Amino acid sequence: MAQLQELFVQRFDNAPVGSVISPGRVNLIGEHTDYNDGFVSPMGIERHIEMAFRPREDRRAVLYTGADPNPFVIDIDSVDPVHGWGIYPQGVIRHFAQDGLEVRGFDAVFSSTIPSGSGLSSSAALELAVARTLTAVTEGEWDATDMALRCVRAENEWVGVACGVMDQLICATAVERAVSRIDCADYSTYPVELPGGVVVLILHSGTKRGLVDSEYNERRSTCERASVELGVKSLRYATMDMLDASGVDDLARRRARHVISENDRVLAWGRAAASGDWSEAGRLMVASHESLRDDFEVSGPALDVMVDVALDVEGVHGARLTGAGFAGACVALVAEEHADKAAATIDAAYRQRYDAVPQIIPSRPAKGTHLVDPI
Ligand code: GLA
Repeated sequence: MAQLQELFVQRFDNAPVGSVISPGRVNLIGEHTDYNDGFVSPMGIERHIEMAFRPREDRRAVLYTGADPNPFVIDIDSVDPVHGWGIYPQGVIRHFAQDGLEVRGFDAVFSSTIPSGSGLSSSAALELAVARTLTAVTEGEWDATDMALRCVRAENEWVGVACGVMDQLICATAVERAVSRIDCADYSTYPVELPGGVVVLILHSGTKRGLVDSEYNERRSTCERASVELGVKSLRYATMDMLDASGVDDLARRRARHVISENDRVLAWGRAAASGDWSEAGRLMVASHESLRDDFEVSGPALDVMVDVALDVEGVHGARLTGAGFAGACVALVAEEHADKAAATIDAAYRQRYDAVPQIIPSRPAKGTHLVDPI
């Protein structure tokens, strides 16, 4: 933090008045269910964006990141989309303005410890950091769920990515010591404690694939089509019996089968975790990966190798891809006493089998977007 403050003084010749921390996220189970009004079980991670800020007297947002000597300057009243990462802050600013919330200019410097393009939600973390900063400089009210949903709309409508609600919701509302089970039909959250004895390892495969992607949109529209054919508002309200009795075509049937079974797995995972049955929780994670690979078809070669490698290692209860899929990160649940050795073994074995440089990141659940006090 001291470093960020120093950088801020160098850039603006003035001290910041505040600072925000906004975490990335990893989803333990419940993939491609959020845009079907289903259940997800993510947590905030100990990798985050930190943003130091100060209000300005004019109508500009001036943002510096890391070592880049050139700022991104956004005219907060302009509706011309900017190019590059500035589109995320601009989208949040525009949505505040559009919704009648106060906006004002600010200076900011931020840094990130979330590997970019890894599927660990660095863009949601940035959006929420900007939303928290704007709220602080205008002395507005901070309602984490409401702000997350504004950021989702900013990403859908301004950035043009048809993401669901999971990333922004967990980034804003994550709690320490627990995974959050979120019901994406009403945005309610329920903490699933992660007691001692078990550790989450994030297994970044060292491969990237953008989300602005026709595959993601295709999955969404196939799910919508399946729900229309089944006569339900969304796949959340469909059952396997309904699917079996329907005339839904093979592709939509497999997509729907994933979503319906995944929702059941999320609830079962919560029960297993609550009773400390980690081998059952791990088994459900493996079943989730297989369903994503075979029925939803969103895995990729690096992710399959990573899961395969992890499942061979002593102490690993289960592993699966996390996030949108295709590339990026997996997640594993590991017995605490084996965690260090497991991380090293997975790293080495993956390098032998796949031509990419992995990053194994242990993480406890971390707190959602918050002001750091005192700066
Ligand atoms: C991405 C999206 C989320 C969610 C996941 C898949 O991370 O941003 O809304 O749909 O993919 O579970």
